[in-house]
Amino acid sequence: MCAVPAGKRVTVREIAARKGGAPVVCLTAYTAPVARALDRHVDLLLVGDSLAMVIYGMDSTRGVTVDMMIAHGRAVTRASAHACVVIDLPYGSYETAPEDALATARRVMTETGAQAVKLEGGAAMAATVRRLVEAEIPVMGHVGLLPQSAVGPGGFRVRGRDPAEAGQILADARAIAEAGAFSIVVENVVEPLGRAITEAIDVPSIGIGASPACDGQVLVIDDMMGLFTDFTPHFVKRYATLAEEFERAAAAYAADVAARRFPGPEHCRNGSD
Ligand code: KIV
Repeated sequence: MCAVPAGKRVTVREIAARKGGAPVVCLTAYTAPVARALDRHVDLLLVGDSLAMVIYGMDSTRGVTVDMMIAHGRAVTRASAHACVVIDLPYGSYETAPEDALATARRVMTETGAQAVKLEGGAAMAATVRRLVEAEIPVMGHVGLLPQSAVGPGGFRVRGRDPAEAGQILADARAIAEAGAFSIVVENVVEPLGRAITEAIDVPSIGIGASPACDGQVLVIDDMMGLFTDFTPHFVKRYATLAEEFERAAAAYAADVAARRFPGPEHCRNGSD
């Protein structure tokens, strides 16, 4: 169970204050029933653009539009009352200029009621983070493996094995923290780098394939529930096998319909009831 009592929505300020304290519990959510089930158990619900792959079957996160993120973001804010809700700014909607990012972030915030937005990138995105924070839009950063840029062979490889690459990612995290991000996702980096980033920044690091030393952890819900099975990154721990459960239930339903066992009398009305 997370550290904040139910009945009050966790604020970005409270997340930021967890630096070095009780780990921040975070999962992705994209739909109302899933947000409702997770809400009491997490500090932060991330409406990640990973929904492109796990919900829509796309082969990268690049196909997601702002309208799609808003529709899923609204479902998640509507169905949750406790967790801080953060929504990804999708590929192509913010990288061009700080003012473009501001326009997108304003739309996402006002149309969803979320508490913050997340964007990918390091030092090159620092001015954008600063612009959003000046406009009172809380920002979560994202460094290390950046799925929106990870196209082509080796795109999803672990980052930071090479000392020069590790140094760049550490500098990226510092730049985004200094620009005012309230926390930073650190994705798929070698463990010493995840630890070094956590020590170097004064806001919570939220690890996914990073380090147990991070100030919090996040996983993609469909990965940890065993619902997305196309591939499983090495850093995913499976807590359920829902794809198998769906198969089993679908097969049982098909057999019942074929054998006329469903619907039963309890599922029908005879007109006098
Ligand atoms: O889109 C997403 O789900 C994410 C997580 C991998 C952190 O950014």
